[in-house]
Amino acid sequence: MSGRSIPGTLVTVADAASAAAEASSRIAAAISDVLGRGRRASIALSGGNTPRDAYARLAHAAGIDWSRVDVLWVDERAVMPSDDRSNYRWAKATLLDGARVPDACVHRMAAERPDLAAAAAEYEQGLRRRVMADADGIPAIDAVVLGVGDDGHTASLFPGDPRVDVTNRLVVAVAAAAAREARMTLTAPVLQHAHDVFVLAVGAAKRPALERVWSREGDVHATPARLLREARGTVTWIVDRAAAG
Ligand code: 6PG
Repeated sequence: MSGRSIPGTLVTVADAASAAAEASSRIAAAISDVLGRGRRASIALSGGNTPRDAYARLAHAAGIDWSRVDVLWVDERAVMPSDDRSNYRWAKATLLDGARVPDACVHRMAAERPDLAAAAAEYEQGLRRRVMADADGIPAIDAVVLGVGDDGHTASLFPGDPRVDVTNRLVVAVAAAAAREARMTLTAPVLQHAHDVFVLAVGAAKRPALERVWSREGDVHATPARLLREARGTVTWIVDRAAAG
């Protein structure tokens, strides 16, 4: 029996609304802490449904000067930014508009471009320009917001996809698969070098994937969210009781 070995801190809350409140509070504190030390902050947003309420709450967090925060994305679908599937679209509707984040601080992944690999390479150059690298030469984003798919993916690193092993690039294109559009995603090194990672997971459907992530034994190729077991910074799992088991 391998048992649980959770990489980081587990915060179990009652329900989705509590998860959103807890996440927005902790993310706001992380950003405020960086700003309070006199430098710009950076945040990278995942898409999906879970973080939307947290983003809407974060938009109204007190004391954050959003003109000093660079907003990046963890991943993006290969759709127009106005598309209902676009991670940017939902971040705009919740956080960007709510907090009036200046356009100059919003660094969207142009995943709608036909040449997705070129767009990913350009996003990587922008990431290196905007986010200070750590001692390993990897841009260390201050706050990264992640989810976990029911299949154990995170960002757009999916089970069975070899890109979970990529270490020589920070942003890659992900080909379309059955019932899934092509994507652009940050790679494991960027996620692992973030100062603070906040993982949001809500609902019983997440429990099997979380157990595979938290198990001592497991395979990152089968459960890519296990890459967080190698995180350098803090990892905070904000999950409701249904997901935590
Ligand atoms: C995406 C996200 C993805 C998401 C998980 C969980 O583009 O879909 O970045 O990694 O975090 O799929 O999604 P839910 O929060 O909707 O369960």
